[in-house]
Amino acid sequence: KIPVIIDCDTGIDDMISFAVTLTSEKLNILGITTAAGNQVVDVTTQNTLNGVTIMGRTDIPVARGAEKPLSRPLRDAGYIHGENGLGTYRFAEMTAKQPEDADAVELMRSLLDASEEKVVILAIAPLTNVARLLMEHPEAGEKIDKIVFMGGSLRTGNPTPVSTFNVLADPEAARYVMKSGIPFHMCPLDTTRELYLTVDDIEAIGAIGNPVAQMNYEMCRFYNDAVNKNNNADKRFKGLCIHDLCAAAYVTDPQLFTTVKYQGDVETEGELTLGFTVLDYENIRQVPEEERNVTFISSVDREGVLKIYFEALKSFGEP
Ligand code: BDR
Ligand code: CA
Repeated sequence: KIPVIIDCDTGIDDMISFAVTLTSEKLNILGITTAAGNQVVDVTTQNTLNGVTIMGRTDIPVARGAEKPLSRPLRDAGYIHGENGLGTYRFAEMTAKQPEDADAVELMRSLLDASEEKVVILAIAPLTNVARLLMEHPEAGEKIDKIVFMGGSLRTGNPTPVSTFNVLADPEAARYVMKSGIPFHMCPLDTTRELYLTVDDIEAIGAIGNPVAQMNYEMCRFYNDAVNKNNNADKRFKGLCIHDLCAAAYVTDPQLFTTVKYQGDVETEGELTLGFTVLDYENIRQVPEEERNVTFISSVDREGVLKIYFEALKSFGEP
């Protein structure tokens, strides 16, 4: 099994991705760490604790992480994910599970230290925790196999024309991690836009009938309305994009994706382009393959990933 640490800001699409990662026979989830992002960190932590509980995985340690970015004020995405980060969905009861005493950086460090194999970090939130880990414990990097990050893009953005939320929320952290020398696999918005649910797909989730599927259904209904309200209604989007699920499925089923290597950096000062991931798409600088620091996930087999997602939801029981 692949040892994995998930760093997240749970969040609707984070929670959706848990259905796949927390049930995958291919993964050994060592721990989950939380960051501020979609909502403040107290909310993203509580959502994570409730999420692992409803999915029967209270065995996984959860640690609370950064309250704010490395050097900027907090920016959240409550306008997309709602006040409690999960749209209008409410858990019937709060879990008794508590976060670890250790914070996110400390939990990551100790899990990496204890692991015999190199570990994959699945980062589906602003990169504050991961950057702090590498800054404070550089030796921990030797135990990381790769960082799979949802965020960045070649040519599109949310919530600005060119910047994606997980980079824009902490551009200094993203820059540090991208240039750390640790294999950095980027699941960009250009590709996550191809992993979408149609209205019919959302209704099919609702028909599955178990409590996890019902949670996914309610979150998707809210998310779809919120995205339609906030995005340009020019019908460019084919459906509701489930960004974090795309990055998660790349870890469980890499055969459903293609990749290409670019040299990359992050804009940390631009007036209009703050948080843009600058990728040497044309290889203008003639950088040799081995010096290109970003493995860019360039396509996804949508049908293949949705099959895995639906199977995961059904594994929680059918009525
Ligand atoms: C990413 O930002 C967050 O809002 C989502 O959870 C996802 O990780 C999408 O841009
Ligand atoms: Ca997220």
